[in-house]
Amino acid sequence: MITSDDMTTEIGQDLKKAKEILEKAGLVAIPTETVYGLAANALNEQAIISVFQVKARPRFNPLIVHLKSYTEIVKYTKDVPPIVFKIAEEFTPGPLTFLLKKTNIVSDIVTAGSPLVALRVPRHNLTLELLNSLSFPLVAPSANPFTYVSPTSAEHVYNNLHGKIPYILDGGECNIGIESTIIGFEQINDSAPGVKIVVYRKGGFDLTKLQKYNLQIDFIKTSTSEKNSETENVNSPGQLKVHYSPNIPCYFGKVKTLCDELQTKNNSVKIGIISFSEIYTGNGIVVCRALSKEKSIEIAAKNVFKILREMENEDIDLLILEPIPNIGIGEAINDRLQRAAAKYT
Ligand code: TXA
Ligand code: MG
Repeated sequence: MITSDDMTTEIGQDLKKAKEILEKAGLVAIPTETVYGLAANALNEQAIISVFQVKARPRFNPLIVHLKSYTEIVKYTKDVPPIVFKIAEEFTPGPLTFLLKKTNIVSDIVTAGSPLVALRVPRHNLTLELLNSLSFPLVAPSANPFTYVSPTSAEHVYNNLHGKIPYILDGGECNIGIESTIIGFEQINDSAPGVKIVVYRKGGFDLTKLQKYNLQIDFIKTSTSEKNSETENVNSPGQLKVHYSPNIPCYFGKVKTLCDELQTKNNSVKIGIISFSEIYTGNGIVVCRALSKEKSIEIAAKNVFKILREMENEDIDLLILEPIPNIGIGEAINDRLQRAAAKYT
């Protein structure tokens, strides 16, 4: 596909048009319940390469393949533990991505050379209808430039990618607002037959829902303190330290402590705050936006990327990001806030 910066980008709900573009190896931004994705034919290498190019994403960072139904998992994978189908039957479509052994149908470009492929079924009517009309699945990373904040509306995608893609399928604001949770499955050890779940990325799926399966759940250690490297091939590259970053210096931590510290350094500093529910004033604070005045973690998730983007338009020098309660998908929101601040702390 040819991508040039003077391409006209249309926004609409024309599924036929989206299908035609994708069938010609073009790119279409698609809505999902988590964030908007930048979609291309997952079985066409040229199309996949254009996704990396448009996002300016390094090729070591693999892509998630989006399926119309979990029953399609078998087409692209092998040696899948039976428990995967049980979990998938119950929780898909939904914000849960499965990391499984790939077959040769899946290109190494999709998985960045890994023998594992990430698969998910998005819970969005328009996109499911689109997937059902196609004879191939779709790769779709979040439709933002590499390391920038993920988009949760068609307008966000347009602001970032207009001129670079022909079409944005407008499915309204994303319901969940943060990316899917990524889980893999590993043998517990050589002598035990059972598998355990390994969480590669915390996200919009509340992992406590898996407790009833009585499986061990481990977390891949993805620190927010190690430096990114342009060439690293980390287990889950979505866990790069600098990620989800707006174009404004961000600090993650207690509002009062950070305000005092930042004002001691510069007493005319103009501070913006993204809080969980409280509206803070004084102390050099120019603007404070709460993620959820009603203290709902789900609403906070839905608002976080939108408010991070909106804060770029305020007359402020920096942004303080208040941690939110570390419960359920709150952990994933804190993870995003921490990474947004990682360049500056
Ligand atoms: O909610 C979501 O998952 C959204 C929507 C559009 O579906 N997609 C998304 O894609 O967040 P992306 O590319 O921005 O982040 C997916 C992350 C990658 O950064 C990578 O870490 C991980 O998924 N991933 C994909 N394939 C993988 C693989 N084979 N092995 C390990 N990690 C993988
Ligand atoms: Mg992303």
